[in-house]
Amino acid sequence: MAKIILTGDRPTGRLHLGHYVGSLRRRVELQNSGEYDEIYIMIADAQALTDNFDNPDKIRDNIIEVALDYLSAGLDPDKANIFIQSAVPELTELTFYYSNLVTLSRLERNPTVKTEIQLRNFETSIPVGFLTYPISQTSDITAFKATTVPVGEDQLPMLEQAREIVRKFNSTYGETLVEAQALLPDNKICSRLPGTDGKAKMSKSLGNCIYLSDTPEEVSKKVMSMFTDPNHLKVSDPGSLEGNTVFTYLDAFAKDEHFAKYAPDYKNLQEMKEHYQRGGLGDVKVKRLLINVLEEELAPIRARRAELQKDIPAVYEILKKGTDIARKKAGETLSEVKAAMRINYFDDEELIKSQQEKFNG
Ligand code: TRP
Repeated sequence: MAKIILTGDRPTGRLHLGHYVGSLRRRVELQNSGEYDEIYIMIADAQALTDNFDNPDKIRDNIIEVALDYLSAGLDPDKANIFIQSAVPELTELTFYYSNLVTLSRLERNPTVKTEIQLRNFETSIPVGFLTYPISQTSDITAFKATTVPVGEDQLPMLEQAREIVRKFNSTYGETLVEAQALLPDNKICSRLPGTDGKAKMSKSLGNCIYLSDTPEEVSKKVMSMFTDPNHLKVSDPGSLEGNTVFTYLDAFAKDEHFAKYAPDYKNLQEMKEHYQRGGLGDVKVKRLLINVLEEELAPIRARRAELQKDIPAVYEILKKGTDIARKKAGETLSEVKAAMRINYFDDEELIKSQQEKFNG
């Protein structure tokens, strides 16, 4: 069976380091591994509208931001089709048919949806489109016959729901759809990078993000004000690593080579951590290291973005081409789905012939 990747992001803002370590960096590696037959990366504007229906310009303006982030982080349009969800109407059609296979109580039990409903104060009146977005996400995954969906941990309930719908579809209408597997980040820290304030998650609304497109000055300012150990007042005080965001980020980004270059007093992160815990190592020194480490990763991304930004029509052309390819594939799957569901009247010569005979003998 072909190995196919599908994944995507809601275009509600520029992408930040949480997106980067949680999935973007991995996608680029998967793309370059050459192990996958097809790769689809979706800008999920229709899904973003399920909780931003009253702010369409926010979504509209962020399509290009996300596309620029993708390309500057290393996604290569020759290897990965980048496309816009709403421009593939076949996905919406699939969603309509899949919704027959899901109960309201199952949707209400989805833990990701539950948390998001609380976050958005939707408890008293949930938009139907929001509640049903896991069905639409199932269409995204199945339309491309994806086998592998690289996502963060928070998306596991979506994958589970998708797999249930696939099983229900296949048992009702015959083997048609593929059950996809989630591919999680390979380490815990990357699964959920905390915000610069130490809060559980980077989130635009909390203002605790470092963006891929931040300038060196912005990165440095954000790192310098990062949450560390509030009891580590004097350099000589022993410091704690627990919930110490600067060290969490170093866990996610630092390699041994960085120490030789930027903090030669230590062989590796472990040695630096031990010094911090003993006392005698100040936060500023650790933060300076982190700035250097982040800059190594971000400088090439920033430079590619600066180039890409010079030709915005070319970026839209990439999206257009990716979308055309995505539509073709989704159209093929939709035809198979309709055939399995016995609603392919016009392409079924047998149907017309047999009914002609039925009525005329
Ligand atoms: N729900 C995902 C997110 O919020 C975005 C998304 C939409 C997605 N459709 C998808 C991810 C299909 C993986 C597969 O980040």
